[in-house]
Parts: sequence; C-alpha cells; structure tokens
Amino acid sequence: MYTSPSSPILCYSPRVTVIGAGRVGSTLAQRIAEKNLADVVLLDIVQGMPQGLALDLMEARGIELHNRKIIGTNDYADTTGSEIVVITAGFPRKPGMSRDDLLRTNAKIVVEAAKNAIAHSPNAIIIVVTNPLDVMTYLAWQATELPRDRIMGMAGVLDSARFETFIAMELGVLPRDVKAMVLGSHGDLMVPLPRFATVNGIPVTELLETDTIERLVERTRNGGAEIVELMQTGGAFFAPASATCVMVESILLNQSRLLPVATYLRGEYGLEDVVIGVPCRLGCGGIECVLELSLSDEERAALQASAKSVRQNIDRAQEILMAAK
Ligand code: NAI
Ligand code: 2OP
Repeated sequence: MYTSPSSPILCYSPRVTVIGAGRVGSTLAQRIAEKNLADVVLLDIVQGMPQGLALDLMEARGIELHNRKIIGTNDYADTTGSEIVVITAGFPRKPGMSRDDLLRTNAKIVVEAAKNAIAHSPNAIIIVVTNPLDVMTYLAWQATELPRDRIMGMAGVLDSARFETFIAMELGVLPRDVKAMVLGSHGDLMVPLPRFATVNGIPVTELLETDTIERLVERTRNGGAEIVELMQTGGAFFAPASATCVMVESILLNQSRLLPVATYLRGEYGLEDVVIGVPCRLGCGGIECVLELSLSDEERAALQASAKSVRQNIDRAQEILMAAK
C-alpha cells in the first residue's frame, strides 16, 4: 500500500509574504512561485479571496512545473517566519488621481501592515509597493524602526523598465539590450538619466536626438498614468509585479544586483531624512550599499526637487496619521 511522505519533498523553502492580494499582489505571487523562488503567503482583508487565489495558483503547479506552496489567508499568524514581506495592500489610482491623492487612504493600511508583518517575522526584509511609494516606504520604516538595509520601496526598477521599453521601441532593438536607470521619487518628478542609458554599451545619446530622448523621458514619467487612462479600472500590475520580483530574487538568491531602490537617505546626494530612489546593491541582507553617482548640476537639482516633494508629502502623511489617533 502506498503511504504519503510525512515531510514535504523540499525540506526547506524560503517564505515570501505578499500583503494585499489584489492585482499587483496576486501577479507577484504567481511570478515568485512560477520562478520557483519561494513559498508564498498571500494575505488580504477580503475574506476568501486570497484563499481562492492561492488554490487557483496551487492547481497550476503541475502544469507550471514547480512545487512551491501558496497559502491564502486573512491572518498574520500564517505569515510567521517570512524572509521577505512585500506590501501591496491599499488602493490604486483612479483616472485623474495622482499618486499623492492616495496618501490619505493608504498611510494607515501600510503602517498597520508593516507592524503586523514584523511582529510575526522579526527578521524579515520589507519591500513596499503601495503608493505614494516613497512616502509609504518612509512611514513603514518609521513604524517598524527597522535598519534601513531591511526596508525599501519598489519603483525605480519599474520606471527604468518603462524607460528601457520606450528606448527599445524607438530604436527597434531587443528590450534586454537596453539598460537605463531612473532615480528619484515614483511620480511626476522622477529623474530618468539618459546620460547613463545604453544599448549594449552604446550611449543612447549617440543613437537618438535630444528631442526624441526628451519625449521618451516624458512618456516614462507619465508611464503609470498612461496605463490608468487606458484601463480606466485600476493601474498597471504585470510590469510592477515583474519589477518587484526582480528585487525579491536578488535578495533571496543573494545576487547583489545594482538596482534603483527607494531607500532612506542619510546624507547621500546631499539628502537627509527622506526616502527616494537611488542605486543600491541588493543581496541577502537587503540593501548592501547605496551608490552615490556623480551627477551633473541639472540631474542633482532634479533629484533635490523630487526629494523636496516627497518630504512635503511625508509631513502631510504624518499630520494625517496624528489626526487619526
Ligand atoms: P488592488 O486594488 O488590485 O489590490 C489592493 C489589495 O489590497 C486589495 O485586494 C485590497 O483588499 C487589499 N487591502 C486593502 N486594505 C488592506 C489591508 N488593510 N490589509 C490587507 N490587504 C488590504 O490594487 P493593485 O493594483 O494591486 O495596487 C496595489 C497598490 O500598489 C496601489 O497602491 C498601487 O498604486 C500600488 N502600485 C505601486 C507601483 C509601484 O511602482 N510602486 C506599481 C503599481 C501599483
Ligand atoms: C504605476 O506606476 C500606478 O505607480 C503605479 O503604474
């Protein structure tokens, strides 16, 4: 008679919790499991929804050829012992809304999610995705009191991927041959850096006219809104989930990739006490180092304007949270 194995086939699998099982969260869960990176706990406040999504993903395992577990839950106890926690809980933009309009609704959700997550997984690394991204990352950092290497925001990988896509489309080249970096806040004041963008090492400034580059920069800045306007029901989620998965993978596999990451700055780029996207090396300990590029006066001014706007919104968010106490 056949007896089932008493222990799982894989004795140990890292665990990634995704808080918010909406479009970004559920797509991220799918990416993580199908890339065979970790077991995934999908948590949402809506009863039954994360459980249903998890079962659906589990039923695809035989076809997708992986053996990772996906657990759907409404209970933080099920997230215990996670190596990474990704926060996507909150509301996306509606047409005509700015990311900052989301501040009021999402601040409380993110702070509670971060505190609950760390209470159950005290050694976890947190990646915030909820908008307005830089402000939410700051609030989560403040609420958890984690060292800055263990709490960060995802936006720059997405914004850079969009810039790379538009460059590749313009030149008719393979997207993966294009490398670009977008720094600053995740919003209208983000700072795409054409000077550092290349196609297999050839600077795009050699390949495209200044006006064309400026058009692609503007499309990148408007990348999220362009999709919201087209869809009319929520925002982008495929590319955001892919971009977040890149960060999860670099941490879990200790790849030490150099990526634009929203991090708490302590004087780098002349900026203090603010979260903003800058190049960071991501490995198993989280942010291993923050790289300071030598920027032109114009680039530095753009980064400072971006940081100033984030700082103003952090102050607004803190007032809102205080008033709600
Ligand atoms: P969605 O509406 O599809 O999903 C959000 C989920 O959060 C919902 O299922 C909702 O029930 C859940 N939720 C709400 N309050 C919660 C709580 N207290 N605890 C647990 N779950 C809770 O939204 P979507 O499209 O997945 O976007 C999620 C967030 O990510 C939005 O704020 C959006 O603006 C942001 N975003 C950020 C990007 C970035 O580059 N940083 C890119 C794309 C989206
Ligand atoms: C995006 O850039 C909405 O922030 C989200 O697509």
